[in-house]
Amino acid sequence: MKILIINGPNLNLLENRNPIHYGRNSLEKIAELLNSKFPSVQFIIEQFNREDEIVDSIHKSSSNYDGIIINPAAFTHYSISIRDALEICKLPKVEVHLSNITNREKFRSISITSSQCDGYISGFKDYSYVLAVNYLMEIMKTV
Ligand code: DQA
Repeated sequence: MKILIINGPNLNLLENRNPIHYGRNSLEKIAELLNSKFPSVQFIIEQFNREDEIVDSIHKSSSNYDGIIINPAAFTHYSISIRDALEICKLPKVEVHLSNITNREKFRSISITSSQCDGYISGFKDYSYVLAVNYLMEIMKTV
């Protein structure tokens, strides 16, 4: 099983962000956590600060992966182009957030992008990614 994990802007500096919201781990540490928990899964983990790069990555994903996990970061709250790219992509998709986007600033409580995913997981810090992988593995069993 091959899963693409797309991370949006500022997640390359995760370890420097507010640990109350994001925990203390870098993306590299999250990658280590996933690789150790799911040795049978191949993870391709990308991070982009630009919206167009995320759109391109979603476009290219269809024939290469079994599922997508996406943390669009700030783009979650306003990117119609990422939302539309997700709509075109027919793979199973899970949106994840480290923080709980519903109990922070009001502007974060709206996700434009999650409507085009199977669902979203928010507020479990690194474990949001783990839970998303669990879901994809579960549904793969039934395919
Ligand atoms: C985030 C939440 C977003 O509101 C924020 O802009 C991020 C990270 C999260 O993982 O909690 O950069 O997507």
